[in-house]
Amino acid sequence: MLEQLEVILREALDALSSVNNPDSLRAWDSKFLGKKGLVTEMVRSVGQMPKEERAAFGKRANEVKVALTDAFAEREALVAARRLAQDLEEGEIDVTLPGRPTEAGGLHPSTQTLRQFYDIWGDMGFQVYRSREVEDDDTNFTLLNFPPHHPARDMQDTFYTTTPNVILRTHTSPGQIHAMRNLGNGGTQPIRVILPGMVYRFEQITARSEVQFHQVEGLAVGRNITMTDLKGTIAAFARRVYGENARVRFRASYFPFTEPSMEVDVECFLCGGKGCRVCKYSGWIEIAGSGMVHPTVLQNGGYDPAEWSGFAFGMGPERMTMNKHGINDIRYFWGNDLRFLEQF
Ligand code: DAH
Repeated sequence: MLEQLEVILREALDALSSVNNPDSLRAWDSKFLGKKGLVTEMVRSVGQMPKEERAAFGKRANEVKVALTDAFAEREALVAARRLAQDLEEGEIDVTLPGRPTEAGGLHPSTQTLRQFYDIWGDMGFQVYRSREVEDDDTNFTLLNFPPHHPARDMQDTFYTTTPNVILRTHTSPGQIHAMRNLGNGGTQPIRVILPGMVYRFEQITARSEVQFHQVEGLAVGRNITMTDLKGTIAAFARRVYGENARVRFRASYFPFTEPSMEVDVECFLCGGKGCRVCKYSGWIEIAGSGMVHPTVLQNGGYDPAEWSGFAFGMGPERMTMNKHGINDIRYFWGNDLRFLEQF
């Protein structure tokens, strides 16, 4: 038996010296040292030996096992080192080659416009208030003083869900109710917020209309807010966006939630008011709807309209971005076409 052990040792060392890769390393290991390996079986056979031989054989078998285990580890390291050397040689790289430029992403044009608005309104003390996109019918319409059969409630305009009264907001104005109720502290605190976000309309998608787009709503509620404040604030905003000489005009209009209501135009920044394609030869471009918050709406927000007043406005950043850059199709905004997006 002892002799057999020596034979195995020599055979194993011999075989190991020609092992050159991970596969044959593994094969060698399982042949000699594995669970059913030759050395392992020898060690195991100690049990069947005559007692007087056991000690000597067991000792030697163990030495053989240790010797082979060490030899294996050494060989394994050698194989790995050779491999690395080979990899380095074959995969030689030219470190003097110029690097490949990584593509830098950019901000979506709408995001850029929104951020500009946050800056400007922030400077004027308006805090961003995030309101939900999934609304209930009441907040989107009723609390904003929409008469029960107002055409805007029509299925044409609104995305209804399968849950009764739950809709996608058609404008950011319902955020006025949430902001007044959540920040007004029971109608005791003045507030100044803008409410940016996505709105949804059940409409035919065309170059001029999308089913989703952003709005930025503004709301100021205080004790002595007048229409002069609204006009001055909007004019200051327009000067920041369109330049120091930008002129604005207010046209009487109608919205259920404001009284009086006005539409805001800015003098066409492309033709300077002379008339061009973008302003449809009128010299003016509409930038917002606005008005003094309707007493009923103030009340629904928790304020006593006898003591409190406010103004509100709503803007469409996509529309404004289109005018600014001469974009003639709103569908580009959500088309994810890099040729469009990379221009901004
Ligand atoms: N909610 C209106 C719309 O979607 C826009 C609007 C007009 C908002 C007048 C206002 C406002 O706050 O005072 O068309």
